[in-house]
Amino acid sequence: MDILELDVLKGYVRLCNDGWEQGWHERNGGNLTYRMTRDEVSQCRPFFSEKGTWTSLGVALPNLAGEYFLTTGTGKFFRNVILAPEQNIGIAEIDKAGESYRIVWGLNCCADLPTSEFPSHLMNHSVKKKQGNYRVIYHAHPQNVIALSFLLPLDAKTFTRALWTTMTECPIVFPRGVGVLPWMMPGGVEIARATSALMEDYDAAVWAHHGIFCAGETFDLTFGLMHTIEKSAQIRMLLLQSGQPILQTITDEQLLAIEKDFRISLNHAFLN
Ligand code: 13P
Ligand code: ZN
Repeated sequence: MDILELDVLKGYVRLCNDGWEQGWHERNGGNLTYRMTRDEVSQCRPFFSEKGTWTSLGVALPNLAGEYFLTTGTGKFFRNVILAPEQNIGIAEIDKAGESYRIVWGLNCCADLPTSEFPSHLMNHSVKKKQGNYRVIYHAHPQNVIALSFLLPLDAKTFTRALWTTMTECPIVFPRGVGVLPWMMPGGVEIARATSALMEDYDAAVWAHHGIFCAGETFDLTFGLMHTIEKSAQIRMLLLQSGQPILQTITDEQLLAIEKDFRISLNHAFLN
């Protein structure tokens, strides 16, 4: 059996292609990592190579020691993942201290690097692993969320309310809300630390004028979260572009009624 026929690889490649088809991944925009289960690592191990060299992560993440991650490569295009997975994605092994990684499969026979946002991804994984069975961290550049980051004040309450009150499913899909970061330099440890701090409270963090990070348990849930946030942002942009006064919206009383009916736990800090 080819490694690419394993369900985990199929699910990973499918998400990359779905994101490309949504238009969220111009050029090399966006990146995806997945923390593999023990069974998935065992299934993939016959395909692993020892050729990759150990590289420092720049941070110590002891709770990720010995984990294996599927990752997109830096500079790689989501558009090409489905055509040539082994050139565009790879599997990274974390060392026993949680301080270094090496590529054991893919990325041009371990020659290429994981995404430049690997520190952000791994620091988010580290936070999310402590909270439950989270496995997926997904960064995309969805156009309407980016557009909203020019029009709304950059705070979590304003963004969350704009999204919650625009589409009824939003409070059900992300009851804790979304975090927001001001513009920061991508690819470094500083933005990684700021994003992982937001991941303590939220499953989604908006990067102003850049994109979003989403965390989830499965490919479906994580893609679905990204899709729901972006769709609500799109409707909000349609409303703003219409130039018409907004006559009615979803009220806080209705948000509370949704909370009761769907037995969710809304973040009341974001109610008025
Ligand atoms: P990479 O090509 O390194 O994954 O970077 C893309 C990106 O979106 C940076 O934020
Ligand atoms: Zn990006």
